[in-house]
Amino acid sequence: MWPGALGGLLPLLLWLSPSSAGGSAGSPAPSAAKSLVWGLGLEADAVLPARFFFIQAVDKSGRNFTSSPGENTFEVKITSPSEPFSRIWVQVLDRRDGSFLVRYRMYASYNDLNVQVLLKNKQVAKSPYVLKGPVYHESCDCPESSGALWEKHMHCPSSFPQIQRDLSIFPRVDLERNAHEIPQRFGQRQSLCHYTVKDNQVYIKTYGEHVGFRIFMDAFLLSLARKVRLPDIEFFVNLGDWPLEKKRTSENLHPIFSWCGSNDTRDIVMPTYDLTESVLETMGRVSLDMMSVQGNTGLPWAEKNGTGFWRGRDSRRERLELVKLARANPTLLDAAFTNFFFFKHDESLYGPLVKHVSFFDFFKYKYQINIDGTVAAYRLPYLLAGDSVVLKQDSVYYEHFYSQLEPWVHYIPFKADLSDLLEKIQWAKDHDEEARKIAQAGQQFARTHLMGDQIFCYYFKLFQEYAKLQVTEPKVREGMELVEQPEDDLFPCYCQRNTARDEL
Ligand SMILES: *[C@@H]1O[C@H](CO)[C@@H](O)[C@H](O)[C@H]1NC(C)=O
Ligand SMILES: *[C@@H]1O[C@H](CO)[C@@H](O)[C@H](O)[C@H]1NC(C)=O
Ligand SMILES: *[C@@H]1O[C@H](CO)[C@@H](O)[C@H](O)[C@H]1NC(C)=O
Repeated sequence: MWPGALGGLLPLLLWLSPSSAGGSAGSPAPSAAKSLVWGLGLEADAVLPARFFFIQAVDKSGRNFTSSPGENTFEVKITSPSEPFSRIWVQVLDRRDGSFLVRYRMYASYNDLNVQVLLKNKQVAKSPYVLKGPVYHESCDCPESSGALWEKHMHCPSSFPQIQRDLSIFPRVDLERNAHEIPQRFGQRQSLCHYTVKDNQVYIKTYGEHVGFRIFMDAFLLSLARKVRLPDIEFFVNLGDWPLEKKRTSENLHPIFSWCGSNDTRDIVMPTYDLTESVLETMGRVSLDMMSVQGNTGLPWAEKNGTGFWRGRDSRRERLELVKLARANPTLLDAAFTNFFFFKHDESLYGPLVKHVSFFDFFKYKYQINIDGTVAAYRLPYLLAGDSVVLKQDSVYYEHFYSQLEPWVHYIPFKADLSDLLEKIQWAKDHDEEARKIAQAGQQFARTHLMGDQIFCYYFKLFQEYAKLQVTEPKVREGMELVEQPEDDLFPCYCQRNTARDEL
């Protein structure tokens, strides 16, 4: 656009502003005293790769804002009184529903931390929040020796239904037998890791050729072991996509930990490697995580495009059907491939490949289609966290949290063979308010159950409950190697947990 063009536009914009930008001009300003601030990131003992807390904008008369009061309404300053050069990276993400998600990543540990939440230079709610330390950073190797105390610090739920269900079929876990039988049954053709955690040290032996994905499990185990002392355990992790234990009778079942479960198998599910990695690498290597997605959903509901939306690759036959369906019904459904790998690409049936779309741009559309890939589509947590409504295919595959999701509450279900998908999209179009409520409930579910703290809780609970079932002593087996904690030379931390306890 050449500069002169603005001359013509400007009067129009000014003329529009009282009504369009007026959302904020007409409504009252947020109140520093009445606005709310809460979350784990205000507690010293809840160590996470990226700590986080929430701000809800509230006006003078006590009403919550339900749309953004402006991206830069709140300012957050995090400093350590004893360290003039604090190495802390802070981001305030506007969730555009009147609330904000504040996240910060520390690159060193501090004796204490001051968190100031400011609104036009006024302290908000009970700001400044003082975290009486030590406040440890992610790479500080400083495990809390009491699991119960750690769970309390993390506000972990007392149980997870999926863990209870998965473990209920294993009344006793015989490690000697497993160490012998599991490699025999699966070690030749599958990619497996045999882990032992002993005295909070992690040991591993791998089976199979393609064991690159062990890095996710290694990294998570080390991260957890830096935060809390793990029980002694010995277990097998399946690094492949498909769950493995297919035995029908409960005789001689082998406990295998997998990232995905299915109605036809008995594997013990863990949060997917994708979700696990995004928790560890929030504000680090990954850009899509459960927090970033909440700050990047773009248009408000009313302005989103009312077409079903899907992008992905051809990892399952139903996906081919989905794209065909979209080509025949373009007003209801926009689904296209960005990549062909598994099937033969026939352009006359599936159209040309389309350009990759940034995940955040998915949320320009109201209706997000979740359809199986090789196994469950690991994007579901992120789809739920966005502010669109999810239409989820019925599937034999599930992730660790699916059993807590309810159809018509958190998502709109459609049949495995897609036969009612168009009907369901039409239902959503005809019931906009209900569809929006489902979108909001899905988002709330993601915020409550799928953020980093809950992922740490889930793994810990799983290891703890599994440990109780072991009837023989976990051992560091022949051929196992130590998985070492990374060196933390740059900003070493002084772990005071154990000394403090000794003094008591
Ligand atoms: C305002 O928002 C807070 C935080 O989400 C919530 O707990 C509270 O119930 C809301 N109040 C009203 C009146 O909706
Ligand atoms: C909504 O999306 C569809 C499919 O991507 C597109 O064809 C249509 O033009 C969009 N509608 C509007 C109003 O932008
Ligand atoms: C798999 O099991 C769940 C839970 O029992 C059920 O709701 C779902 O319909 C099953 N899916 C298929 C495709 O069998």
